[in-house]
Parts: sequence; structure tokens; C-alpha cells
Amino acid sequence: MKRVKIKTDFNSLCKVFFSTIIHSMRCVVANDHGAVSLARRLTAHLKERGIDVNYLGTDKEESVDYPDQAEKCAKEFLKGGYDFALVLCGTGIGISIAANKIKGIRCALVQDSYSAEMAKRHNNANMLSFGGRIEYKEEPEKILDAFIDAEFEGGRHQRRIDKITALENHR
Ligand code: RB5
Repeated sequence: MKRVKIKTDFNSLCKVFFSTIIHSMRCVVANDHGAVSLARRLTAHLKERGIDVNYLGTDKEESVDYPDQAEKCAKEFLKGGYDFALVLCGTGIGISIAANKIKGIRCALVQDSYSAEMAKRHNNANMLSFGGRIEYKEEPEKILDAFIDAEFEGGRHQRRIDKITALENHR
């Protein structure tokens, strides 16, 4: 049992090390006024991991509409050159609903590191959503890391994603 755990930790460390050295990850982040401080916290964490962050705001407490922030973030992500995107609002709900209306976006509203990991392994989500007013049972940084460090499994999951894409195309 112990040997397996050590191997997993070593693999994760290698992944973080090589992704930093060989391919510097890039992500785009946007939030509304309901998640200014969590957005600040998570962007700082991403930068600490060596991930290049394009932060689109808002960094102010004045009210902005989350669909506008979702659109801004999704459109920037879809230009290409990003590994993933991150959106945040008060609950993470509104901004994820809005983002998922945009073709090509698979935004996962995650609650914990398990759902974050599965969002990559099974759903190949390209955007994560967090709520600035949500009390997570785990550190949000840990939840985010679970997504970043997981890999899409392909196979039957790709078939299901193809079906999501078909729904997007109204087939
Ligand atoms: C804004 O007050 C709030 O409604 C928004 O941040 C978000 O929680 C919506 O889902």
C-alpha cells in the first residue's frame, strides 16, 4: 500500500516538474465582484506553480455581471494557446451556466478535489468554476491542483464528449 502511495506522489512531483520545465502552462481567469478575493488567491497559486496567468478581472468590489465575465473569459480561451480557463462568481453557478452556453466550452463547477479530478479525467473540462462565497471543505488550491494534475482518459469518455459536441451543434 505504502509503495503505491510513494509512487503516486513521485509521479505527481515529476508531472509538476516537467510541465514547468518543458511546457509552461497558460490559463485565463475572470470573475465577478462575488469572488475577487478567491480569484486573487487562486491566481497567486497558479503563478506559484509556474503557470502563466492572463487575468481579466474584475479586481474591484463594484458589481459586474457574471455573464459578461464568462463571455470575456471563454472568448479569450477559444482564441487558443491556453491549457485551461478559470471563472469565479459568488457561487460559481451563474458564471458556469453562462460559460457553458458558449460553443467549445466545457465548464465544470467543482466542489472538491474528487470532482475536479474527474472533470479532467472523464469530462476533459477546459474551464473550472469556483464560488467566492462558498465554504469549501478543502483548500480551493488543492481542488484546483487536482484538476491541473489529472489527465483525460479518452476512450469511452471521448465518445461521450463527442456527443456533447453534437448537442452543441443541435444534432
Ligand atoms: C452576484 O451577486 C451573484 O449573483 C453572482 O456572483 C453569482 O453568485 C451568480 O451565480
